[in-house]
Order: sequence, then structure tokens, then C-alpha cells
Amino acid sequence: MADTDDIRDGKSFGLDTPASTEGFYLKGLNNNDWGLKNRLSRIFNKKSGNTVMLAFDHGFLMGPTSGLERIDLNIAPLAEEADCLMGTRGMLRTSIPPTCSKPVCLRTDTGTTILTQMNDNVLIDEVEAININASAMAAMLSVGEKETEAITIANFSRLVDIGNKYGIPVMGVTAVGKDMARDARYFGMASRVCAENGASIVKTYYTEGFEKVVASCPVPVVIAGGKKLPELEALELCYNAIQCGAAGVDMGRNVFQSEAPLAMMKAVKSVVHDGLKPAEAFEFFESLSK
Ligand code: 5RP
Repeated sequence: MADTDDIRDGKSFGLDTPASTEGFYLKGLNNNDWGLKNRLSRIFNKKSGNTVMLAFDHGFLMGPTSGLERIDLNIAPLAEEADCLMGTRGMLRTSIPPTCSKPVCLRTDTGTTILTQMNDNVLIDEVEAININASAMAAMLSVGEKETEAITIANFSRLVDIGNKYGIPVMGVTAVGKDMARDARYFGMASRVCAENGASIVKTYYTEGFEKVVASCPVPVVIAGGKKLPELEALELCYNAIQCGAAGVDMGRNVFQSEAPLAMMKAVKSVVHDGLKPAEAFEFFESLSK
């Protein structure tokens, strides 16, 4: 029989360090509260430390873009393969079954479309994020855009205030001004501005010198896929980003516009979680899509 002192210090369980005091596994996020960490650990795979988020929030800016005409038919069947679903409240409520237990990153800013390209956004009510049971909230920062930089950074900061109040992590979605080069200098700056304003996750674009973007951002960075590429190139993009230290992808068009979206989801996961090389992942994609 263990005596009471042994039980108190955990010796009778063979524990030197109680699990509750171990370091958290996501970069820069160890000093946050339990709720925020718990939500993040639903999004990021504990083994690889990475995530494959499935982005289908494009419609609020672009309307029914190719592959997103019917989210119930095109996206819902992919949901089980994703580590996290990134969408708007409208599409989640209408087209994703509430029985889906995947964590949600709720797109929380709105206000303009690609027709005006103003990015002059406002935030939806935070009660919506709680109601939807969001594991994260996302909003865009338009860094370097004269008319809208200030409003998007102020929105973002307010969203982080709200997120911190309820333990909901906030993802910064970087956009750089029309006149700014889409390179490591500006994506690095935009990513850092997100982190400085309290982002728990930053979404940006892969570019040459991406390791510098990651190194100067103290929280996990995930990449957007951007416009549809041939599958092998999209897998190379994922591989290169992971090699440079990205913590995963938040990918849309390169998955849902693929000829075989489910196979592409699985191939992307094989790169992000299992470290497959692009050629191996492409072979995997082809074998699955046959
Ligand atoms: C749209 C977004 C998308 O979520 C983001 O661009 C990822 O999608 P894709 O891989 O298709 O670029 O923020 O506003």
C-alpha cells in the first residue's frame, strides 16, 4: 500500500512530472490558458504538430466559385479527412451537418466582395462563434493597403480581445497591398503584424525565403494554397512549406478543384503529417484516384 505522502507527490503512479505541467507542443503558445490550448490541440495533430485545414470560405468574397457551388455535395464528404474546417457561418449552418465533430475555424470578418476589393470589413458578433462551437476564429489583416490597413488591424485586435476572453484562438489571414511584392519581406511583415496583435495562428502564402517568414513569426504559420495548380506542384508547395517550418496548410482550391478531391486531401495529409516527398505523395494520389 502506498502511504499518503507517496500519493501526494505522484510516486505511486510512477510520475516524476505531473502531465499537467508539461510544455505545450505548439510554438509560442505555452503561456496561454487551458481553454485556448485545448481548442488548439483539436486543430493540430499531436504527433506531427501540424494541421491540414480545409478552407471553403471563398464564397463570401467570390460567390459560388468553381468547386464550391454546392458545399453540401463538394465539401461535406471531405470533412472527415480534414483536421479542421474553415468556413463562414452561413455555409456551416446550411451545408455541413451539425453531427460533424471536426473543429471549426470560423471566418469572422465580412463586408466586401471581390467586385469592390476594398477589404473594408467588420466583425460578426462573437456570440456566433460560441454558438457555432468554433475552435478558432479567423479574420484578415490587409497590411500595406492604404484605405483599409487601419480598419482591418483594429478589427483583428478586437477579435483577439474577444478570443482571449473566451479562450478561442484567432488566426490572422494575411493580405498584402496591391502594390506590395508578394515576397518573404512583405509576407514576413504581415505575419509578424498578426503575431504582434495576438494571433495564435498565422495564415500566409509560401514564397522563396519562406524559412525567414516562419523564423520571425513566434506562433505556428500555415500556408494557403492559392490558385489551382497541377496536383504534383501543389504537393511540392506543401512539402516546401513544411520543410521551411510551416505548421501545415489551410488549403482550398487545390483540394476542392482537384479532379479527385478526396484523394488530394489524403495526399496533402501524407506530406503534412507523414513527411512523404512530393513524388511519393503524388503516386499515393494517383493510386487513390484510380
Ligand atoms: C479566402 C481565403 C482562403 O481560405 C485561403 O485563400 C485558402 O484557400 P486557397 O487554398 O484556395 O487559397 O482566405 O478568402
